[in-house]
This record gives sequence, structure tokens and C-alpha cells, in this order.
Amino acid sequence: MRLERTGTQGLFLEAPVNTPVPDDWIRRGGLQKVERWTTAELEEHAAALAAAEATVAAETKAILAELRAEAAGAAADLRDLGRYLAAADASLALALVAAERGWVRPTVDDGDELRIEAGRHPVLEVNREFRPNDACLRRRGARDQLVVLTGPNMAGKSTWMRQVALVTLLAQVGSFVPARAARVGLVDAIFTRIGATDDLTGGRSTFMVEMLETAGVLNGATDRSLVLLDEIGRGTSTHDGMALAWAVIEHLATGRVRPRAIVATHYHELAALHDVHPQVALLRAAVEERPDGIAFPHRIEPGAADRSFGIEVARLAGLPPAVLARAAAVADAIEPLSAAIAARLGGGNNARPKPHPNRPAARTAGGADSDGGLVLTGD
Ligand SMILES: Nc1ncnc2c1ncn2[C@@H]1O[C@H](COP(=O)(O)OP(=O)(O)OP(=O)(O)O)[C@@H](O)[C@H]1O
Ligand SMILES: [Mg+2]
Repeated sequence: MRLERTGTQGLFLEAPVNTPVPDDWIRRGGLQKVERWTTAELEEHAAALAAAEATVAAETKAILAELRAEAAGAAADLRDLGRYLAAADASLALALVAAERGWVRPTVDDGDELRIEAGRHPVLEVNREFRPNDACLRRRGARDQLVVLTGPNMAGKSTWMRQVALVTLLAQVGSFVPARAARVGLVDAIFTRIGATDDLTGGRSTFMVEMLETAGVLNGATDRSLVLLDEIGRGTSTHDGMALAWAVIEHLATGRVRPRAIVATHYHELAALHDVHPQVALLRAAVEERPDGIAFPHRIEPGAADRSFGIEVARLAGLPPAVLARAAAVADAIEPLSAAIAARLGGGNNARPKPHPNRPAARTAGGADSDGGLVLTGD
């Protein structure tokens, strides 16, 4: 004999079939092997239990409602407190970093210039000896409006572009910046197109993603924007890619909207754009050729590169020697084509490295050259 309780039948006594029970028990039903019974006393008890449970539920609900109302009353203040603490935390973090790393207070105004003296990358400067570099861009400038940045693989192009963007961003959020000095004419947005990725599930190939991003930049940028294109026209044929890159740069340099912009590229032929449009400045990431290989001093200097040293970087990455040798032979064979293309694009002018006067961005910052730079050793 057991006392049981179910949701549908409530409290009842359960006994095996044919068990003798007192006469005043009332049969509630049964299953194959058991019968269920109730009594007047059990009914009373069940009613008392249900009433007690209802009271507990009502009281719990009332207490919860009270707590909710109290929390709602304090929510606005708590949210404000959270916001103030977050702001204080962010400001403190920026202040500590600025003090520890010798960051400086930038000038932020509504001028056209973006000028950084001896700028550094705020993340890379932590773990390595970092080579500072200058930058100078002018919105709608007759010079230095758009930088075409060339240079070997691994030479520091992407790093420099990103540090320009990061210094700008830090200045505009009210932080000190990693530089010797900086003047930031307000930027309304930083547009970037960096790297290569695809979106297979979204039905977008690598080059399609690249072009969609480029379209987003060209359609979204205003005169006040900062535009960074870390290589464009890579994922298609060299001719199409170079043509697109040329046209995109011209659009940014001569169109209705002429933002401050940096375009990094391995299409050295694009240096000819400077001959056609003086607002296009040429900068390059330096490389030093040594008897034992090449070294990257990570110096951004005036001029255009004429080699990417891609085969040397491939050697460093471990490509088989036979592949490297064959690549070198192929490169030698097609080299003259590149010079011919550059000559045609530049209207016959020489597009090779040509320091140009009056370019403050051309000054290189920091001390002597390749300390801390990367050396690629040939075999
Ligand atoms: N100014 C600098 N000081 C010290 N190290 C640097 C500096 N600039 C770049 N480096 C180092 O060199 C590496 C390669 O730089 P980065 O990726 O900018 O080269 P890149 O010119 O964009 O090459 P690629 O053409 O292959 O994209 C960085 O990961 C960084 O470690
Ligand atoms: Mg790069």
C-alpha cells in the first residue's frame, strides 16, 4: 500500500488488486495490477495542500514583482554607472598606454591634412624594435592626396597603412597617439579593403568579394574620408587587375570625391600615375640588397619600387629550389614587358623611382637604417 500523487488524479492510496480495504474508502480507479483509493481525510488533506501551494505561488509571484519593480527603478542609474565605468576604464587604459609608451597628444582639427611624424604601429611596437615612419596626406591636395605605395613583399607596406589608420582612429577617439607628432584633419570614416577572402555559402568568389568591397569604398567615401586599399586587382588576370587598379586610383585622385587615400600595390607599373596626376604621390617600402641576401629596413621613402622580391620571399617560405629557379627564369623573360607597359601608361614618361620635391611625407623618421629589420638570406 502506497500514498501516490499524480497531476491528473491528485492524492490517492494505491494497493495491489484484491487487497481488502476499509469500507469507507472510495475507489478512484485502477490499473492492471493496482487499485487506487481515496478517503474523506485524504480529500481534506489534498484540499489543504492545494490551498497552501496556491498561497506559496501567489506570494512568490508578489515578491518577484516587487523585486522586478525595484530593479526597473534602479536600471537607468545602473546602466549609466556601467557606461561611466566603461568610459573611465577605456580612458584609463589609453592614458596608461600613452604614459608607458611615450605617445603624444595629436592636434585634431577640421583641416585637410593628415600628417604623422615618426608614427608607429600601436600593436607591433610592443613586441619588436619598431621602425617609425612619417605620413602626409592632403584632402583634395594638388600633391600628396593619394599615395601609391609599392615595395617588396614583407617590406612593411600593410603595417604602415594600418598604422596611419590606427593613429587617425586613436586621435579621433580622444587618445594620445604612437608618434612624435601628429595632426589629424577630421576624418568622417575610414574605408579599407584588405586581404583576400571568399564567401562560398554567400555565393561570392574571392575576386567578387574584392570587387564588392572596392565598390563599397568608391560609393561610400567622401572628401573627408580616409581610404586604404591594401592591394586591388589581385584575384584576376594581371591585365584586368592592373587596369582596374589604375582606374580605381584615377577615380579617387581625379573624381568628384577626392579623399585622402593610400593604395598599396605590387603593380609597379602604376607608378606611372604620378606622371599623369601629380596629386598621386609615390612612396615605397625600402629594400637593401646585400651580398648575403636582401634586408628590409621597414623604411617608407619617396619613389616607386621596381621589384617585389617575391621569389626571395618564396624561398624563405620553403618552396622547392627547382620551382624557385624556374620562377626566376620566367621572371627574367617577362620583365621587359613590365617596363613597356609602364612607359605606355605614363605617356612615355619614365615611371621608375623618382624622389619628388616638397613632399613632407617623404622624410623618413627614426634613426639609422636596418636595425631590427628583416634579412632574407639567399643561398
Ligand atoms: N616599421 C616596422 N618596424 C618593424 N617591423 C616591421 C615594420 N613594418 C613591418 N614590420 C614587420 O614586417 C612584417 C611584414 O610587413 P607587412 O606585412 O607590412 O609587409 P608588406 O609590405 O605588406 O608585404 P606583402 O606585400 O607581402 O603584403 C610585419 O609583419 C612586421 O612584423
Ligand atoms: Mg601587405
